[in-house]
Amino acid sequence: MEKFVINGKTRLKGEVSISGAKNAAVAILPATLLVNGICTIENLPNISDINIYCDILKTLGVKISRPEPNTVIVDTRFVSCNDAPLEMTGKFRASYYLIGSLLGRCHKAVVGMPGGCKLGARPIDQHAKAFEALGATVEIGQGKIMATAEKLVGGSIYLDTVSVGATINAILASVLADGTTTIENVAKEPHVVDIANFLNTMGADIHGAGTDIIKINGVKELHGGTYSIVPDQIEAGTFMLAAVATRGDIIIKNCITKHLDPLSAKIREMGAIVEEISGDTIRVCCNERPKNVDIKTLPYPGFPTDLQSPMGVALSTAEGTSMIAETIWESRFQYTAELNRMGAKINVQGKVAFFEGVDELYGSIVSASDLRAGAALVIAGIAANGTTEVHNLQYIDRGYENIEEKFRALGADIKRVTE
Ligand code: EPZ
Repeated sequence: MEKFVINGKTRLKGEVSISGAKNAAVAILPATLLVNGICTIENLPNISDINIYCDILKTLGVKISRPEPNTVIVDTRFVSCNDAPLEMTGKFRASYYLIGSLLGRCHKAVVGMPGGCKLGARPIDQHAKAFEALGATVEIGQGKIMATAEKLVGGSIYLDTVSVGATINAILASVLADGTTTIENVAKEPHVVDIANFLNTMGADIHGAGTDIIKINGVKELHGGTYSIVPDQIEAGTFMLAAVATRGDIIIKNCITKHLDPLSAKIREMGAIVEEISGDTIRVCCNERPKNVDIKTLPYPGFPTDLQSPMGVALSTAEGTSMIAETIWESRFQYTAELNRMGAKINVQGKVAFFEGVDELYGSIVSASDLRAGAALVIAGIAANGTTEVHNLQYIDRGYENIEEKFRALGADIKRVTE
C-alpha cells in the first residue's frame, strides 16, 4: 500500500497546468464503441480509471495504442459485442457508459454493476428509463445490467432527476437510433457538453448540450477522427481551493475559466483574489484569513459537489462559522471526521455540515474515502502545522494525474511512500 507523507505548513505558490477532464474522458472512451473507424483522443488524463477503461475496451475487440501517456488511438472497426468483463466494470462508476455505447452499437449490452466511490446509493433507474424510452429491454440482476433492443427508435425522455450519467447514457444510446430523441431535465456539466462535441466531431447530430433540452437526430454511422478532451473543471477548482486553504498564490493554466464561475464567485465572497488572466488561465491569491460563507451543492452551473470537500478544507480555518449543504449525495461528509482529527471543528447534521473556523490545522494520520476527499486531505496536510499521512491513495490516483508532482512544483513537501 502507498501513502503520502506531507510536511506542512506551506503557502503554495507558482503555476500548475490542468489535465483533461476525468469525467469527460471516462465517457468519451466508451463512446468510441459507437464509431466504425479509428479515433485519436488527445489531452487524456493519465489516471487509473483511463487505464482500466483501455483494458476493458481491449476485451471487446477494440485495438488500442498509446503513442504517449495523454493520447490513445482507438480502432473500433471490429467490436466483438460480447459481455463486458464483470470483474472489471465493478472497479469504478463510469463503466455504466458501456451500456449506452454497446446498446447503440450492438443493440445488446451486458455490463457488471458499476462500482465507484461510496457516496450513498448510486441508483441507475434513470439510465434504464432512458434506454426503455428508445425501445430497449433492461434487466438488472445477478450483479449485472442487461439491455437489449431489436432496434432503437428515437423517443422523448424526461429525466426525473438531473443526472450526469443518465444524460450521457441517453445521448450514447440515441446517436445511432432511428429518428429523433429529445432529452429534458438534463445535466449541463462541461463534460456533458464535451461528449456531445466528441460525437458530433465523429458525425453525430446532437443539439443543445449544456442547455435544458438536448435533441439528437439519429444517424446511420459515425466515422473516425481526432478529438481533444476538455480541461478538468474539478481539478482546476481543487487547485484554486488549495490556494485559499494554504493562503497561497497559484496560477492555474490550461483550464476554461467560464467553467469555474460558480467557484470563483464563492472564493471572491471569502475575500480572496480571483483574477481571470485569460480564457484559459486563472489566478487565485489569498493573503489573509478567508471570511465564512454558506455553500449549497447543485447541478452545474451551481456549486459542484465534487469541490465540496476541498472547499471544506478552506472553510475549516476561515473566520466564523460556515455551512455546506450537500444536496446531490447522501454521504459525502466522511472527510470531515478526518479533518476533525487535524484540529478542525466540524459538526455534521445529516446533509448539512457546520464549520467553526479554527486558527490552524495540525498534522495527523488520515484516510481518503473518495477521490475528491483524498485531494482535500492532501490540501489539509499542506496547510497543517506538522506531518500528515494520507492513506487510500487508490482513490486519488483514479482522478488526479501526477497530483504529488503538481503540488511539489507549487512548493509542497509531499512524498509518496510505499508502506
Ligand atoms: C457524476 O456521477 C460524476 N462521476 C460524479 O463525480 C459527480 O459527483 C456526479 O456526476 C454529480 O456531478 C462521473 O462523471 C464518472 P449523477 P453520476 O447521476 O453520473 C441521482 C467524481 O468525484 N440519480 O449526476 O453517478 C444520484 O443518486 C465523481 O469525479 C438517480 O437517482 O451522478 C444523485 O443523487 C464522484 N438515478 C444524483 O442523481 C439515476 O439513475 C446525481 O447523480 C442516476 C442518478
